[in-house]
This record gives sequence, C-alpha cells and structure tokens, in this order.
Amino acid sequence: MAEISKVGIVGSGIMGSGLAEVAARAGFEVVVRSRTQEGAEAVKDKVGGTLARQVAKERMTAEERQAVLDRITVTDHLGRLAECDLVIESVVEDLDVKRELFAELEQIVKPEAILATNTSTLPVVEMAIVTQRPDQVCGIHFFNPAPAMKLVEVIKPITAGDDTIKSAMAFAMQCGKDPVQVEDRAGFVVNALLFPYLNNAVRMLEMGTASMDDIDTAMMGGCNFPMGPFALLDLVGLDTSLSILDALYEEFRDPNYAAVPTLRRMVAAGHLGRKTGRGFHTY
Ligand SMILES: NC(=O)c1ccc[n+]([C@@H]2O[C@H](COP(=O)([O-])OP(=O)(O)OC[C@H]3O[C@@H](n4cnc5c(N)ncnc54)[C@H](O)[C@@H]3O)[C@@H](O)[C@H]2O)c1
Repeated sequence: MAEISKVGIVGSGIMGSGLAEVAARAGFEVVVRSRTQEGAEAVKDKVGGTLARQVAKERMTAEERQAVLDRITVTDHLGRLAECDLVIESVVEDLDVKRELFAELEQIVKPEAILATNTSTLPVVEMAIVTQRPDQVCGIHFFNPAPAMKLVEVIKPITAGDDTIKSAMAFAMQCGKDPVQVEDRAGFVVNALLFPYLNNAVRMLEMGTASMDDIDTAMMGGCNFPMGPFALLDLVGLDTSLSILDALYEEFRDPNYAAVPTLRRMVAAGHLGRKTGRGFHTY
C-alpha cells in the first residue's frame, strides 16, 4: 500500500477548496493547483475564512488554524505536484478536460503516485487508460460540502489494482470519512439514486404541481431531508448537475436521467446556483 503524506488537488472550485481543507485538517501536506495564481490564492483565503469561523465558535484554536493553513501551498504550476503521493483532480465535470489533465499529470507526477478523480459520474477507466499507470488510478468522490459530509465513494475501475483501492480507502478514513467501495458505473451509488429525484423535482415544477418553495418544504418536512431539491441543486451547481444527468443518461438511457429543459435553459443563461448568486433561488 502506498504511503501518502503529500496530496495534490487540481481545481479551485467548490470541491477543490473543500478537499484542500479536509486533507490539510487531517494532517496531510497539500498542494492546490489552479489555472491562475488568483484562483489558487482564493482557495487559501476561502479555507482561512472557514477556519476563522471555527475559531470564533471555539471549535479550533488560532494556532491550529494557522497550522492547517501552513500545510497548504497554492500554485498555478502543475509541475509543483511532482512530489505528491496522491493527486486528486477536481476540475469541471467534462471528460475531455479530465482526460487531458490525466495525460499531463502522468508526465509530471512520480511513477509510484496514485492519481484520483473526484468526478461525480464520469467513467474513471476513461481517465485511467490515458496514463501509463492505469492500475494506480481510481475515483475518490467526496461530497459537498467536503469538510462536513462523512461519505466518500472510492471508485474501482476495472483497471485498478487492489493496493490502489486499499490506499484510497485508508486515505479517506484518515480524512475522518466513512468510505464505501463502488464499481465504476455512472453516478456510482449516491448520484445514480439522487439525480432522478432532483430532475423529477424540476419536472414537477414545470408541470405546475406545486411552487418551488412548496416542493422544497414538502421534501424537508415529509422526508426529513435537511434541504429541498431546489436548494440542493443550487448547492451542487446547475452546470455540474446537468453534466451529471447527461453522463447518467448517456450510460443508462433511463428517461428519469434525461435532463428536463428548464435545467438546461438555466445553465445556458448562466444561472448556476449559489456559485453565481442565482439559480432556482437568489443568494
Ligand atoms: N459540486 C458538487 O456538489 C460536487 C460534489 C462532488 C463532486 N463534484 C465533482 O467535483 C468536480 C469539480 O466540481 P466543482 O463543484 O468544484 O465545480 P466548480 O465549477 O466549482 O469548479 C470547477 C473547477 O474547474 C476549473 N476548470 C474549468 N474548466 C477547466 C478546464 N478547461 N481545465 C482545467 N480546469 C478547469 C475551474 O477553474 C474550477 O477550478 C467535478 O468533477 C464535479 O462533478 C462536485
């Protein structure tokens, strides 16, 4: 099993910064790479802000906060990931972009390192086969917000070695998570079951069955869910949600996975949810 002490994160979006916080809090040295230096710095600012709130609530001391931040290095150079034992990519949910990134990482990261993807739905094997180390590629799928959510799905493509999966499971546990092992099928466990529900909530809104707020209220009060489907879609990001549905539909051809038009139009309009200040709700 690979010894993991230094972790690379590629991507500085919602999940990139969440992963950086989780890994640094668990004691790993973390290198975050964004395409721009500003994007990379923003990750450190965001983690610093989140941890400051923890200090204010007396859940962490100021010294502990500083120690976590000191373990995070940010960069716009992929080459700075060379010494990482594990690199987790968390860039846009687009297979071509991810495959290109894996091919680049293959050239840069030391041969014994594990390469992982945080994809929500895409076939991990498609990323594994662009590398010279398909046995050392797997999915490590965290949930949003990564610091709060206990689940990690460890995805085993048919190319992965058992040691890679063992290392990924151990890493997730060291991050304080409860990992489950899943085969490489679109949506894995959670999103394959969750997204028909979210998609059908938008369909229900289109049909005029109830208002958006009433659908949210109904699912919270009736199922004890912490938030309703529209609030959850806004949290995930509507662009990411659409990509997830498209990948699920591509694999299973189940009509429940066929994204309803409203979702596609909202993405076209740039109403992506919390991250743009406007989605189904306004922030
Ligand atoms: N949002 C969620 O709830 C959630 C949960 C679990 C996993 N994921 C997965 O995590 C990954 C990232 O999602 P996110 O929610 O952080 O998205 P995001 O939109 O917040 O961030 C996307 C990141 O990708 C970068 N990016 C965009 N285009 C790129 C390109 N062409 N080349 C390289 N980088 C590019 C952006 O600069 C940004 O850093 C996706 O694979 C997504 O499916 C998302």
